[in-house]
Amino acid sequence: VTTPVVLPRFLAEYRARTDDALSDLLPADVVAPCDVHRAMRYTLLAPSKRIRATVALLAADLRGRESRAIGVALAVELVHAASLILDDLPCMGDAPLRRGRPSCHVAFGEGTALLASYGLLSLAFQVLATQYEPALAARLSALLSETIGSRGLIAGQADDLAAERESITFERLERIHRLKTGVLFGAAATGGALAADAPQAQVAAVAAYAKNLGLAFQIIDDLLDVEGDPQATGKLTRTDLKKTTFVSFSGTDGARLLARELCDTARLALEPFGRAADRLRDLAAFVAERRQ
Ligand code: IPE
Ligand code: IPE
Ligand code: MG
Repeated sequence: VTTPVVLPRFLAEYRARTDDALSDLLPADVVAPCDVHRAMRYTLLAPSKRIRATVALLAADLRGRESRAIGVALAVELVHAASLILDDLPCMGDAPLRRGRPSCHVAFGEGTALLASYGLLSLAFQVLATQYEPALAARLSALLSETIGSRGLIAGQADDLAAERESITFERLERIHRLKTGVLFGAAATGGALAADAPQAQVAAVAAYAKNLGLAFQIIDDLLDVEGDPQATGKLTRTDLKKTTFVSFSGTDGARLLARELCDTARLALEPFGRAADRLRDLAAFVAERRQ
């Protein structure tokens, strides 16, 4: 039994729209290969905050064109879910629990989990290719592949793995967090803004917001590993004890403070948008204080 993730009302509304669209996207469990499709649905549709999708939708909403960003929102959540399956494998984070359930490889075995991860990742690019006009589809696909690739999220995950065996500097930790988490937040915002046909200055502003928000989000993830409630986070806690995290450098109060400061920096980037960016401001306030 999974505890539902309780979110502030406006976030719950964005999450609900994303959940519905995600559910429509995946082949049913009875479609062959059934175990792969079941595993894809299992992780993708498990309770999630859908923060990255919400960033994409809100970025487009700055132009009054939220619905244009649905494809981007789906693509980033597909990529995120694919990355979580890999992140939990025994050779990576070796996590038994995810989104309040046994991790994908625990429930389905490592082979099926790997195939489900690739299936989700492929679907992300299919969504971009089929839901946008050719020129925009190409631009969004290039953005997403750079974001995930060996100079983006994969670089962050690679250095995160390497850093497990070393003591690392604050600067290196920040770089890891920016790459493994910040860049996908940035891509969600950039993609949402591009889909809404935002001018370049607006795309850059909302991307700067999202990158800082993503770093703050990951710092709080470190903090919740220490002081979170597994019922609320859906993951085991105290798994990072041997790792260097923001809590190792700054303590629990310091990590929370740092995340708040980054959320303030994120909000500064929204000034040109005035009141139109209030929901993005509310999202930053949620991330700074989150316990889930
Ligand atoms: C977990 O992300 C992995 C990190 C990058 C910290 P989330 O905390 O957004 O996970 P879900 O999507 O809500 O399950
Ligand atoms: C996960 O980072 C980042 C990606 C999946 C890209 P962590 O390993 O720190 O996050 P959790 O704590 O397992 O969710
Ligand atoms: Mg992990």
